[in-house]
Order: sequence, then structure tokens, then C-alpha cells
Amino acid sequence: MDSKISFILNENFIEAEINPAVVLLDFIRKQRLTGTKEGCKEGDCGACTVLCGEISGSKLTYKTLNSCLLPLGNIQGKHIVTIEGLSSGKNELNPVQEAFVAEGASQCGFCTPGFIVSMTCYFLNPEIISLTKPGFVMDGNICRCTGHNSIIRAAEKISSRLKRKFVSDEPDFVYLTEKKIIPEYFLTIKNRLKKIDIKSGRIFDSSKPGIYIGGGTDLFVQKPDELFKSETIFLHNDINLKGIEIKNGNCEIGSSTTVSEILNSGIIRKIIPGLDKFGLLFGSAPIRNNATIGGNINNASPIGDMTSLFMALDSVLILTNGKSERDIPLKNYFSGYKKTERHNDEYMKSLKFRIPEGNYFINFEKVSKRTYLDIASVNSSLLINIENGIIASAHMSAGGVSAVPLYLKNTSEFLTAKKLCPDIVNEAVNTAQLEISPISDARGSSEYKRLLLSRLIYAHFITLFPEIINIEDTYERL
Ligand SMILES: Cc1cc2nc3c(=O)[nH]c(=O)nc-3n(C[C@H](O)[C@H](O)[C@H](O)COP(=O)(O)OP(=O)(O)OC[C@H]3O[C@@H](n4cnc5c(N)ncnc54)[C@H](O)[C@@H]3O)c2cc1C
Ligand code: FES
Ligand code: FES
Repeated sequence: MDSKISFILNENFIEAEINPAVVLLDFIRKQRLTGTKEGCKEGDCGACTVLCGEISGSKLTYKTLNSCLLPLGNIQGKHIVTIEGLSSGKNELNPVQEAFVAEGASQCGFCTPGFIVSMTCYFLNPEIISLTKPGFVMDGNICRCTGHNSIIRAAEKISSRLKRKFVSDEPDFVYLTEKKIIPEYFLTIKNRLKKIDIKSGRIFDSSKPGIYIGGGTDLFVQKPDELFKSETIFLHNDINLKGIEIKNGNCEIGSSTTVSEILNSGIIRKIIPGLDKFGLLFGSAPIRNNATIGGNINNASPIGDMTSLFMALDSVLILTNGKSERDIPLKNYFSGYKKTERHNDEYMKSLKFRIPEGNYFINFEKVSKRTYLDIASVNSSLLINIENGIIASAHMSAGGVSAVPLYLKNTSEFLTAKKLCPDIVNEAVNTAQLEISPISDARGSSEYKRLLLSRLIYAHFITLFPEIINIEDTYERL
């Protein structure tokens, strides 16, 4: 079961014969790198945050990941940086650490390494700025002592003093080392990574079935011990399963493409306006950086956010057993609670959807117990096409209101060919109520979930067509 895993940990090359289902957090702490902390071990607290650098094309880029949910099988050929790896080794604080001290942003200190690593990623990452304000780079980190205000002050202080500099979309490593944000050994990493023999892991071997692992953000919360004892198949690094492309009017997304890659894709942003807003409701930066679209769909959770969005886009999945492929519409994929139509010897290769044309609108809505870093109580997505005030087509999905992610077939059909007006929206809400069968659980009673879905359907229309339907129209009827 052991595999040879090669990567760079801070400044050191590591080559280990080891079970690839060991999570990085356990590995690094056994190397006596104990600055990285174990808090929740479920991706919630960020105490275990590390930087992960990888070469893509000709560029070396870095992102944050939760080491508690990161199997060694997914870090082959990469550069892992822990808090120890951000130190110059001269027993002095770097400018990010100094800002934290100056603002009283560390009290017990348990969360501090994770925050410092995330803040360092702010300077290494051109994509973060397009998402939101500087503080958001730490959306996966929780501090129970400081109340976060001093941490935000420290982040603002350091981000106002230093530039985020990039050369051709790659971090300006020379500038960052001069400013002591990162130590000088970072300048050698690109060449060193190029020399590592990258094996993408076993993809398909019918003689030895195993558990497919995408990012692992679901599996390593649900059943880490079982993974440790099982045959595991790592899909995350397979370049054949990654990427987003347009082919014959379809957009195709490889199953190992991460949520962050989808949110940052120019292609997808053009097709789905408002994606920034929806995307930030998914987990946290380190979770989005690791979670794949294949994992989101195949964990078959009734509340998968990407599943909801791509179901409304009427997507089709491409499944393969390594020898042949077959297509299946996403809306027909789920056969029961956490069950799919996928055969044991198949994995998801990609997802594709027809690029919407004409006067179309897309919206995603989600309610969870807290706005960010939480999974949905109920979510819903809508793709709607309006021609001359008439609904030419509609596709609506809803999660958390049935045992499976639900395509609201009757509601979508009801809306089609109707004039868009408040009465039709109210009737659509009533139709949806007849299609759903929510159960009471930790996320709310079945009545609450029914109410939520009604509100989310109104929210779709109020958000997309405020000139036709407004909140007063709906309040009278709720
Ligand atoms: C803190 C936290 C916050 C989260 N927030 C959200 C959220 O806001 N919204 C949300 O929807 N989810 C959320 N999740 C759940 C999870 O991160 C997502 O569902 C994620 O997309 C799973 O992807 P993964 O690649 O990590 O899956 P994995 O854990 O690798 O796999 C999940 C399942 O899919 C299977 N699988 C993976 N890839 C394939 C493939 N190509 N073919 C066949 N089977 C495959 C695996 O065998 C496994 O059964 C959160 C999780 C955590 C820990
Ligand atoms: S230990 Fe809490 S996110 Fe990893
Ligand atoms: S300083 Fe104690 S948890 Fe943040």
C-alpha cells in the first residue's frame, strides 16, 4: 500500500516510502515541525494551514491548504511550506509576524501560525485580490481569543506597507525575499521542483479496485481511518482530469479541477456573471483550493453547492472505466441518499454543459447556519432565458430538500413559456413545494426548509429582475 512520495518541505527534499493516505499534518508534526497545529482536523479552524507551491505550465504558484485534510498522495512533486519555512532562520520575526505582534493579534498563539501562513499567501497570490478585500485571504482561519479585529488591523497594516508584486502572473519572488516576506531559499524552489519525477498516482486498475480521492476534503473528514487501510486512487494530480475548455459550444470541466480554479477561470466567469459572489459562499479559501468538482458531485451530498449550480446549467457527466466512456445527465445521476448511477469500476472524467445563449440569467442562493465557511441548509440555482418578457426556458435546482440534489422538473416546466410577472413567481413557489420532501435534521426542521426554498426562489427573481418583482410583492404572500 505504501508509495514513494517526493516533495520539498520548506527547504528540504523529502522522499518517503509511505502510505499515501497519511495526511500531511500528521507527517509534518512527526518531523518535529510542530508550529503547524491540529485544531479541529475537519477543515474548519485553519490552525493547520500550509502553503502549497506547484509548477503549472512555466509558473510556480502558491495557495493555502488545510494540511489536516491533505493526503500525501496529493502533494507529489510540490513545495510545502509550514510556518517554520517562513522564518529566515536568524531568530528574527518577518514583517507579517512583526505586524501581528505590534497589533496584539496573537494571544494564546494557537491560531497564529495558520493566520501568518494565510497572510503570506496574500502576497504570493494574484487571484485573491479579485475575490475581495485583504482580510478575506484569512477566511479559513478562526481565532477564539482576539475577536479578529486586531488580526484584521495587522493584515491591513502589512498590506498597506508592502506591495503585491507579480511578474507575468508569478509572484515577484525577488521582491518578496528582499522584503523578507519569504526567505531566500524560495528563489531556488522552481528549479528544484522541475527535477522531481512527478507520478500522478494510479488512475485506473480494474484488478485492484480502490477508493477514488479528489481533494480529500470530504473523505478525510468522513473516514480517514478507512482510507488508511484501503487501496486508494489519487485523481487530483492527473493533468488529464484537470482544466476548463470550450468545445463545439460546450464548456467542459475536468473532474479534478478545483473550486478555486473554477471560480478564477476567465471562461467560467464570462458564462456565469456573479460567480465571485456565489463562490465565496463555498467553504473557505483553503477548502476551495483543494475541493474538486468531481468530489462535490460524487460525494452525492444533497447540499453540494457546485452540484446545484451545474445542475441548473443542465450539465452532463462523462464517466469512464478507463476503456470506454458514457454520458449521463447530472439531473439523473443521483439514485438515492448518497448514491449515484456510477458503477464501481467507473470514475468521473469531466462535466460538460451547453454554453447558454441569448438573454440568459443565472443565480445561486444558499442559506446556512453562518454565512461563510458552512455547508447549506438549503441551496438553489436558476438558469433562465427571457425573450420579449416571456420565459423561453428555465432550469431550477434545489439542495437540502430531498434525499438527493434535486432538479425541480415541474417548476422548471411550469415557468417555461410564461410571461415573467409576480403571479407566475408565486405559482412557481407553490409548484416547487409539491416536488420536494425535506426531512428534519441538524440543519433545520422540514417546515423550515420548505420556507427556505420558497424564500430562495423569490430571492432568485428579486435579484435577477428587481424591476418586475420586489420584496413587497412576496411578503404579502408568505
Ligand atoms: C470545512 C469544510 C467546508 C465545506 N464547505 C462546503 C461548501 O460550502 N459547499 C459544498 O458544497 N461543500 C463543502 N464542503 C464539502 C467538500 O469540500 C466538497 O464537497 C468538495 O467539493 C469535495 O471535493 P473533494 O475533491 O475534496 O472530494 P473527496 O473528498 O476527494 O471525494 C468525495 C467523494 O467523491 C468521490 N470522488 C472524488 N472524485 C471523483 C471522481 N473523479 N470520480 C468518482 N468519484 C470521485 C470520492 O471517492 C468520495 O466518495 C466543505 C468541506 C469542509 C471540510
Ligand atoms: S486542524 Fe482545523 S482546519 Fe485543520
Ligand atoms: S490567539 Fe488564541 S486562538 Fe487565536
